[in-house]
Amino acid sequence: MRKFLLAGIRPLEESDISQVAALHQGVFEIPSTPDIRDRYRNYFTDKFLEPVRQGALPSLVFEDENHNILGFLAVATRRFAIGGKLIQAAVSSQFVVHTQARSNLVAVALLRHFLQGPQDFSFTDEANEASQSLWEKMEGSTAPMYSTHWIAPLRPAKLFLSRVQPRLGSFSAVVVPAADFMDAVVSRIPYRGRPRPQPNLQMESLSTKALVELMAEPLNDALLRPLYDVRSLDRLLDDVSRKKTDGAFQRILLRGLDGKTVGWYLYYVDCRGIAEVLQIGCCREYRREVIGHLFHHAARYGVAALAGRLEPQFSRALSDQCCFLYPRKYSMLIHSRDPQIVKAIQSGRAFISRLEGEWCLRFD
Ligand SMILES: CC(C)(COP(=O)(O)OP(=O)(O)OC[C@H]1O[C@@H](n2cnc3c(N)ncnc32)[C@H](O)[C@@H]1OP(=O)(O)O)[C@@H](O)C(=O)NCCC(=O)NCCS
Repeated sequence: MRKFLLAGIRPLEESDISQVAALHQGVFEIPSTPDIRDRYRNYFTDKFLEPVRQGALPSLVFEDENHNILGFLAVATRRFAIGGKLIQAAVSSQFVVHTQARSNLVAVALLRHFLQGPQDFSFTDEANEASQSLWEKMEGSTAPMYSTHWIAPLRPAKLFLSRVQPRLGSFSAVVVPAADFMDAVVSRIPYRGRPRPQPNLQMESLSTKALVELMAEPLNDALLRPLYDVRSLDRLLDDVSRKKTDGAFQRILLRGLDGKTVGWYLYYVDCRGIAEVLQIGCCREYRREVIGHLFHHAARYGVAALAGRLEPQFSRALSDQCCFLYPRKYSMLIHSRDPQIVKAIQSGRAFISRLEGEWCLRFD
């Protein structure tokens, strides 16, 4: 086994970006593009260096005695509230060790350092089995209720095409209209779960300020919920709308007929027509209507499929729609020294959406 004398862990610095980018690109097999260096520079600066200047927790690098970076763990800071108390959470992402340095406990050292940080709890929601096994050995746990994903094929033929289209070449000109025709036929079949209009709801665009205020209110029976100010949330939402995949970001606020806010949702449609649901919020009595509105909105918008993480409070409402549970091979892992926080999450009474998690920290 290689030993790393005088090796150590320290916060990520601007001068590390090229080494960390090379490590990340190599291990995750990110294709090179002419602008890859700028993309990496902007990514690490905007998401992980700039927030530290405003008090966020630092990302971590592991370097050997020759200052070669062998491991990296990205950290994003989020604020939550539990029982009226403000707490800090650290999201771990882009956890990576150089292939030549594997099985030398580099990952163990990085993760241990991270978990011992000042945050009240740590989580990651797109973890693979390797991470899962490491977290569980360090008193972390998997949150099964936040580790299941669903997908609803709204235009099955378009969904199928999104997978094979790059290989179709000139056949696309024939196949795409045929798929549109098939989907138009399917959308007229009166199956149970077919997206329907929700006449009791009025929709409008969801402003950042409105979303900050909505999340500041205790949500139903959620024991743990995220807290934002307009600046931090604007930044996060801006990041989503600037994603590189030429998609569209939908931010919808829903009111009842009396004008009272009853719910909201956020989803991002990528260039293949797959809509990733990032957050759904609503009052208990309107769960079915809000989910119904989301499905109808996405169907009218022409998305091929809606996909999301199964939030425990929406499982009944989602089961009314035609959607399938499917293994996405990533889990939510949590760690906290405070049993009240662990209990709130493990009992399914935490409002932690993909907006707070790793989806917004992806490199693309
Ligand atoms: C996941 C990854 C970071 C792990 O790195 P690694 O260098 O293999 O991990 P480490 O050697 O530090 O730790 C794993 C070993 O430590 C052991 N270990 C774990 N916790 C331990 C502890 N508390 N004390 C002692 N040993 C421990 C494990 O059993 C494992 O042993 P093994 O290699 O004999 O199976 C690395 O495989 C990687 O970069 N993978 C590709 C990127 C990736 O998938 N990242 C995760 C994204 S969610």
